[in-house]
Amino acid sequence: MVTNNFPKDFIFGAATASLQIEGGDRNNSWYDWCEAGKIPNGDHCIEANQHWERVEEDINLMKGLHLNGYRFSIEWPRIQPTKDSWDKAAILHYRDEIIQLKQAGIEPMLTLHHFSNPSWFEQQNAWIDKESISLFLAYTEYVVKHLGDLVSHWVTINEPNVYLMMGYFVGIFPPGKEGDIKSYLKGAKHMISAHCQAYTLIHKLQNDIGKKDTQVGAALHLRVFDTYKDKWLSKISQKICYFLFQDLFFNGMLHGKWFGRTLHRGQFFDYLGINYYSRDILKPNIKAFPIFADLTKPADCKVNDLDWEIYPEGLARLIKMYYQKCKLPIHITENGMADSQDKQRKKYIHDHLRAILSCIAEGIPVKGYFHWTLIDNFEWMEGYEARFGLYAHDLETQKRSLRESGKYYAEICKSKRLLPLDS
Ligand code: FCB
Repeated sequence: MVTNNFPKDFIFGAATASLQIEGGDRNNSWYDWCEAGKIPNGDHCIEANQHWERVEEDINLMKGLHLNGYRFSIEWPRIQPTKDSWDKAAILHYRDEIIQLKQAGIEPMLTLHHFSNPSWFEQQNAWIDKESISLFLAYTEYVVKHLGDLVSHWVTINEPNVYLMMGYFVGIFPPGKEGDIKSYLKGAKHMISAHCQAYTLIHKLQNDIGKKDTQVGAALHLRVFDTYKDKWLSKISQKICYFLFQDLFFNGMLHGKWFGRTLHRGQFFDYLGINYYSRDILKPNIKAFPIFADLTKPADCKVNDLDWEIYPEGLARLIKMYYQKCKLPIHITENGMADSQDKQRKKYIHDHLRAILSCIAEGIPVKGYFHWTLIDNFEWMEGYEARFGLYAHDLETQKRSLRESGKYYAEICKSKRLLPLDS
């Protein structure tokens, strides 16, 4: 039976990414991308939320939400500003942040790579070059050796599928390549291999210090792909999309597989991290290589400010579908909506949490939910226009203010109960 109660140990969190909130770093691929004038509205990630200077203030925001989990990322270029140097002060900054979080009763979930690369790494053909793997592992080792005693939950790589699709296929993320399927596949192979080796490395280093509760996974962007009026070409597109966009990564990172070949022997997820936002209806278009479809939505569906369909059932469908494939605990590592007027977010949170409760009622171990995002921030190509925050953010004054939907989420986090929408 579906109840309104979440398990006692359920993690209610929020998620952010370093580049999107910290501001101030000039040594990364997204700084270079903004400098090159690639953000259509001219916004620049150098400002963001000044989180680097406001860690304490932002942890207070989390306390205000009664969070017991926080997913965030380490900005690799800060830790390794050049190929041959490490910045001790920067890693200690993160160490201090984690200590503050834990003092506030908030468990950190640490992401090692969330879209942004050090500029030097980008310049040497990031992820497409085979050496990327050993470079990522050296960075991973440095971070784990400095922070591992404080961190149990690790995300190696955020959304490798989106990173590669946007950077090498659609061309709107650095390095801005279009239709380069060869690089997409090469990058995928390297990211998969880097994940599997990082999984093994993190466990080894944590074992060495006797830390036994380490959980390593990745955050995969999973979408629902539905067919258009049951057309045959649409069914083929559906298979291509599920494979190229998600299962290539899911099977690769879970089993160390690459097109049926074994890259690494073993199992490389302790939990499955799902980032869920929306679905696509695949309308046949023979010219649209390689998926032979246009991505569309149902005519009368509800959408967010970015015109993404709001489809909570999709979350339950994906949880069930992927749980069948891996039987692992699941964390919803991201879920949220752009809603500058805050008109639909409350219902969005309600409906997606209800979807999670329905899966838990079927015995699926969904362990945590990390709402995207704590505070309006630099939303990649949309700059500051897309507002996903539980807290609104004023770029001029740096003022943060809790939205009504944030108040609602706070009550849920506090009571560990799904509250009715009129509460
Ligand atoms: C995800 C990204 C995250 C944020 C949300 C809206 O794909 O991981 O950084 O941009 O979308």
